[in-house]
Amino acid sequence: MSVALYPGSFDPITFGHLDIVRRAARVFDRVVVAVLQNTAKTPLMAGDDRADVIRLAVDQELPPDVARRVSIVWFDGLTVEAARHHGADFVVRGLRAVSDFESELQMAHFNRKLAPAIDTVFFMTALEYAYLSSSLVKEIARFGGDVRGMVPAAVADRLEATADRDWSTGPAVG
Ligand code: PNS
Repeated sequence: MSVALYPGSFDPITFGHLDIVRRAARVFDRVVVAVLQNTAKTPLMAGDDRADVIRLAVDQELPPDVARRVSIVWFDGLTVEAARHHGADFVVRGLRAVSDFESELQMAHFNRKLAPAIDTVFFMTALEYAYLSSSLVKEIARFGGDVRGMVPAAVADRLEATADRDWSTGPAVG
């Protein structure tokens, strides 16, 4: 059985990530979405919240025969250790643009140095999601902007429910 680990911060998961999960499930028997608990960036949602919301999104947005081959876990520490722990021989990552390439190449080399038996497989992000990034979604959500269309409904609902809505636009000028 082929198992792939798809690691990330997923803060929050976007339609771009979900598309990678769906496409990876066409190639691998099982896809383990691994949510990094302690990201260096200030997280919008706690690690286990992110994992809960991804489970909901996968079940709501992907066909049942795909969703049941996708598991969601959270991890702290090295990606390759999480891959070993979950029996994954492959790490999956998405590439949106050339700008992603350099850091992804470096990570893939590091991971292969640490665990030569684990290979990284890249999927090119679908064109319609190439502009999407969790950081920008996070910023829009923080300012109360509408992120539906960028993230699965489960995420948008969660963000709306927890948003500290402050619609003030600052002092009037002039
Ligand atoms: O979605 P992100 O934030 O770009 O994902 C980055 C992630 C989680 C894949 C990367 O930071 C990572 O693998 N972190 C775990 C620590 C680790 O293994 N570092 C060595 C890889 S070079």
